[in-house]
Amino acid sequence: MSTRIAVTSQQGAYDVLIEQGGLASAAASMAAATTARRVLVVADEQVVQTHAATLLKALQPGDWEVTLTATRAEEPLKRMAAIEQIWTAALSGGLDRHSAIIAVGGGLTGDLAGFAAATYMRGIDVIQVPTTLLAMVDASIGGKTGINLPVPGLGHLGKNLAGSFWPPKLVLVDCDTLETLPVREFRSGLAECVKHALIGHPDLMRLLEVHADALRDGRTGTLDDVLVQSIEAKRLVVEQDEHEYGRRMLLNLGHTFAHAIEPIKELDLTHGEAVSVGLCAAMACAQLRGLLSAAELNRVTDLLTGLRLPTQISVPQRIDDLLAAMRYDKKASGGQLRLVLPTSSGAEVHDDVPIADVTAAWRTVMPPSSE
Ligand code: GLY
Repeated sequence: MSTRIAVTSQQGAYDVLIEQGGLASAAASMAAATTARRVLVVADEQVVQTHAATLLKALQPGDWEVTLTATRAEEPLKRMAAIEQIWTAALSGGLDRHSAIIAVGGGLTGDLAGFAAATYMRGIDVIQVPTTLLAMVDASIGGKTGINLPVPGLGHLGKNLAGSFWPPKLVLVDCDTLETLPVREFRSGLAECVKHALIGHPDLMRLLEVHADALRDGRTGTLDDVLVQSIEAKRLVVEQDEHEYGRRMLLNLGHTFAHAIEPIKELDLTHGEAVSVGLCAAMACAQLRGLLSAAELNRVTDLLTGLRLPTQISVPQRIDDLLAAMRYDKKASGGQLRLVLPTSSGAEVHDDVPIADVTAAWRTVMPPSSE
């Protein structure tokens, strides 16, 4: 299967090419997307021997000059030092203003490589090769790049608090790369698909419900339609509001809650798992605000449970700490909580949710013993 989804952007249109085996034949698709032939491949160290090696083989010497650098895809390491390491590798590889960076890995690798490309010599081309489901359906599309910064007074990192919008020249999605992805990471990506379904894509919701059993086991035979519909959902939003002044905020559904719990070590949550719990908290909040019925909330929690995604955290947390962390989220506006809440037909941005409702929403995702 090969599907091409064109995404318009103020910095130039690009394609999301979904192609099984596309990595092995990447030379043609990449040559059509960028004039650069001297490239730095920034690969998650976990895929250096596999997917990055396939790409390096595809980019034949003679036609391409390729340097490789590996990154560790860990949130605590998503810092300025990692960007400097990529810049240094780019300099060592002789990259100039007409060169390009190719990111191979998950969303974290793509964010780092994208930010390094956005700033190296004031900006060079970047191509995204996502190898996780989460990056395929969300992080690689729409040009968000960035790093984490320490949150004053809280002792942990706030996600993506510095960065830029730097749209790729191409997003190459090769589903074969998912074969090496641990099932837990695959399920994490499904949480972002559920989020896309909730922002006004009932067909995607039904697709996920019908295929939940196969999807949760990482059986990718049923994945093509989920990928295409999810990527389409993301395209629609980023085309309308590339720089997140309005509608793109809807993609943050569940994320303001998720970002408060994701850095807490004892909870041991992947990003997608934190989003899953965050979606449940956002739905509970929406129900309290009269935006969503109990039946609608239960339908989504049933789907998340069916996909083997968490709907509660495992260890009780102080709600005051969670509220404080939420205020440092990028979506907070002047210290005021900005929440995306689901409705019966999509989602809406709310600046006026009473703290009592946010507190009550957090209670619904605490473990039963803490109630
Ligand atoms: N992942 C949210 C966005 O791209 O806006």
